[in-house]
Amino acid sequence: MSEPLNFEKEVLRRRTFAIISHPDAGKTTLTEKLIWHGGVIREAGEVKGKSGTKAATSDWMTLEQQRGISITSSVLQFDYRGLRVNLLDTPGHKDFSEDTYRTLVAADSAVMLIDVAKGVEERTKKLYEVCRYRHIPIFTFINKCDREGKAPLELIDEVEKTLQMNCYPITWPVGLGGQFTGLYHRIKKELMVYHGKYIGDEPVEIIPLSGIDDPKLESLVRPEVLAQAKEEIELIDGTLGDFSIEKFLAGELSPLTFGSAKQNFGIDTFLDIFCDYAPPPGERKTKNAVVKPLDRTFTGFVFKIQANMDRRHRDRIAFIRICSGQFERGMKVNHMRLGRELRLSFSSQFVAQERETVDVAYAGDIVGVGDTGHFQIGDSITTGKHVEFEDIPKFTPELFARVTVSDAMKRQKLQKALKHLSEEGAIQLFIDPAVGHQDPVLGVVGELQFEVLLFRLEDEYGLEGARIARLPLTVARWPRTADGKPVTHLAGHSILYRDHNEQPVLLLEKEWDLNWVKKENPGVEFFTSIQAARNAKPE
Ligand code: G4P
Repeated sequence: MSEPLNFEKEVLRRRTFAIISHPDAGKTTLTEKLIWHGGVIREAGEVKGKSGTKAATSDWMTLEQQRGISITSSVLQFDYRGLRVNLLDTPGHKDFSEDTYRTLVAADSAVMLIDVAKGVEERTKKLYEVCRYRHIPIFTFINKCDREGKAPLELIDEVEKTLQMNCYPITWPVGLGGQFTGLYHRIKKELMVYHGKYIGDEPVEIIPLSGIDDPKLESLVRPEVLAQAKEEIELIDGTLGDFSIEKFLAGELSPLTFGSAKQNFGIDTFLDIFCDYAPPPGERKTKNAVVKPLDRTFTGFVFKIQANMDRRHRDRIAFIRICSGQFERGMKVNHMRLGRELRLSFSSQFVAQERETVDVAYAGDIVGVGDTGHFQIGDSITTGKHVEFEDIPKFTPELFARVTVSDAMKRQKLQKALKHLSEEGAIQLFIDPAVGHQDPVLGVVGELQFEVLLFRLEDEYGLEGARIARLPLTVARWPRTADGKPVTHLAGHSILYRDHNEQPVLLLEKEWDLNWVKKENPGVEFFTSIQAARNAKPE
């Protein structure tokens, strides 16, 4: 065991965050530049997987590359200014919102990435709402300043009006696109000069100034660009008060900076702002108490399960957010749902797409532990006697189907594969008691999940020719009595399916049918997920 002093120091230097953005805003590019600054990669492009490391990545990432979408998420760790930064990567596509939601539950802060030309887009807005609900502090990075875009004041107005969150610009762009001359740092009073692409260790030219009125700027910036920037900066200086760390931590005020991820410009400034303000691991609510990160008892919860990340090992990894204490490889923990002790023998952290064994980790960190089927998303573990973190809500499925394989010999394999993938959270399974487990109904939130499912069935389980047969269902509800007990029979309705925990679920074609069932069963409540049903259960 390390000395207590080291333990505290280690926990307090953790910073765990995620990037939220609309697809194409530049999340992959920014991630790559952030970990380049963190010294993890030497060449741009390594995040996407250079040849040679390909074997270490799951092949269904090929699907992501083909489709130009990001659907997996991983955890990247790097050191910067003495801090240990954990970046939780989130899938970009809306059909994978549930995965992103779970990842945000494991983060202590978030970076909202906005394309300067597009402003606040639909998906950013949705993800922002999740952060707001959890009161996660948010940084804002306005990307692609090397391109023409909306006027910065207009963008800030848009963020403030659409998201009802105030912004605090720490830097300000001097010109945009073809006229982009650099970033003015409002606090340090200096100009970071933009000369085009910054590659390798080439330092950015920094000019110290007395303020935006400094005559030195006249020889550096075109007169009309300077006049515009001066006017804007004077306006925000005059209207904005001081930065309030309390408001930032409450998720009400966002420190904002500009840059170009592609040209590697403004990234170090962002990282400095991040290091100045990002909070260390915070307290976590459990069902009946609060866990403090500096508590010596180890606690954590599973927020993600990923099968077949490494095809050479065909393994399954449960990603655990450590909430308190210290993790040590090989330690024994109490698994609350199973009510038994487990040894966490195989544990890893991720650097780009390489996996490294981890022996020790601290509150705030994410560790991936090898899983042989013991973990489900939302499971709580501890070296103490008891901990039960709040449930991670599942999204209500809206699209339903059955999967078929033409070769009858492969049915059992299909059944097993579907079970694996449902434990991962990739799909939800519903069993018709009259049919049993051989032919489950699958529920998903978005169309692309079916497409990825077929791809993975073939790629990872060798189930070629599997087909999706869509069902005309759109509504799933978990019925409970007023005192919180599962309802096993509904008047006027013959079938109740079972979810993976054997809980009864009602599947219907239309919302209108639900109203009918409700009328017929006045004493029953209908919940949109098992977690919602459990949370509403009277004590
Ligand atoms: P995502 O993960 O958020 O979906 O976005 P990604 O990083 O893949 O970036 C989407 C596109 O935007 C890419 O262009 C990328 O190069 C470009 N991009 C990202 N940041 C900047 C920036 O700061 N300035 C400019 N001008 N472009 C940026 P692409 O054409 O799809 O790919 P590529 O051929 O450039 O790699």
